[in-house]
This record gives sequence, C-alpha cells and structure tokens, in this order.
Amino acid sequence: MFMQRPAPYETLTLDPCLVRALRSDHAGEAGAVEIYRGMLACTRNPKLRRFADRHLRTEQQHLAFFDSWLSPAGRSHALPLWRLAGWLLGALSALGGTRMAFETVRAVESFVDDHYATQLRFLEGKPELAALAGMIACFREDELEHRDEAAAALTRAPNWPERCWSAVIGTGSRVGVAIAARI
Ligand SMILES: [Fe+2]
Ligand SMILES: [Fe+2]
Repeated sequence: MFMQRPAPYETLTLDPCLVRALRSDHAGEAGAVEIYRGMLACTRNPKLRRFADRHLRTEQQHLAFFDSWLSPAGRSHALPLWRLAGWLLGALSALGGTRMAFETVRAVESFVDDHYATQLRFLEGKPELAALAGMIACFREDELEHRDEAAAALTRAPNWPERCWSAVIGTGSRVGVAIAARI
C-alpha cells in the first residue's frame, strides 16, 4: 500500500506530548521486533515460527519508518533496554509454550492498539500532520491483525495464571512507554 511519507521530522513543530509519544512509538517498535526474534530463538513449533516470522517482518517495516524518519534527538536513550526487554519477553513466552506466546502477543498488541488509538485522537483535526496520522493508522491496522491472529490461535478462554500474565504485560507496557517517552 502506498503511504504518503510525513514531512521530515526536523521541519515539523510538534507538541511536546506528541514528541514524547513518537519517542515511545520508536522504542515500542524496536521492542516488538525483538519480541519476535526472541520467540524465534526459543521455539521449534512450526505454527509459532510462521506466526513470529511473519509478524517480525511487519514490525521491521514499522521500525524502519521510525528509524529513518525520527531524528536521533527524537529517540529514546534507553533503546538497548527496550530491545533487551522485548527479546526476553518473546523468549520467555516461547519457552512457556505456544499458548503463552500467543497470549503474550494478544496482550502486547491490545496495549499497542490503545496506544496508537490515543495518538490518532490527538492527531485528529491537524491537517499538517495528516500523513503522520495515516502512517500510524496503517501501523495500528497491522497491530490489530497481530492481536486478532494471536487471539484466534487461542482455542480456549485464558485461565487465571494467563490473565495474570496478560495483566503484568499490560502494566509493564504502560510503565515502559511512560519511561521511553521521557528518556
Ligand atoms: Fe508494530
Ligand atoms: Fe505488532
């Protein structure tokens, strides 16, 4: 799909809230790439490998946009930490079995959906940022597909340990985004 590229980051006058949000987007996409790399390093299950491999490629596209568009000043200083956290999350969840891996992706992508939806509401009515909004809307569609594909792979409702795990991921993601937005 052709997407209009936003004007260069340096040329835009961005609200400080949006600057922080974009920094967290970049950190989140860097972490997402590593989640799937961590999964691929720790599973031999063919279904999970196909799933992780396909999603990895999409996350690499999301990351490539932020890598090439955000100036270094717009990036988190803690990127190695977000990458490590993502890899460990993917690896641990894959070691826990395919169900845990799919539950992890469902929880992460549910959080990312909310995160991008909040930004899109912020960008509404800002025609000068329409191309950026279009890009984020496209990424959000991809994340929704990831969430729904993971949910479809879960053949029964989550039990209480899985619900706890999802809650931990949701909280961890919120904390991670709050930190990445600032440093
Ligand atoms: Fe993504
Ligand atoms: Fe995703």
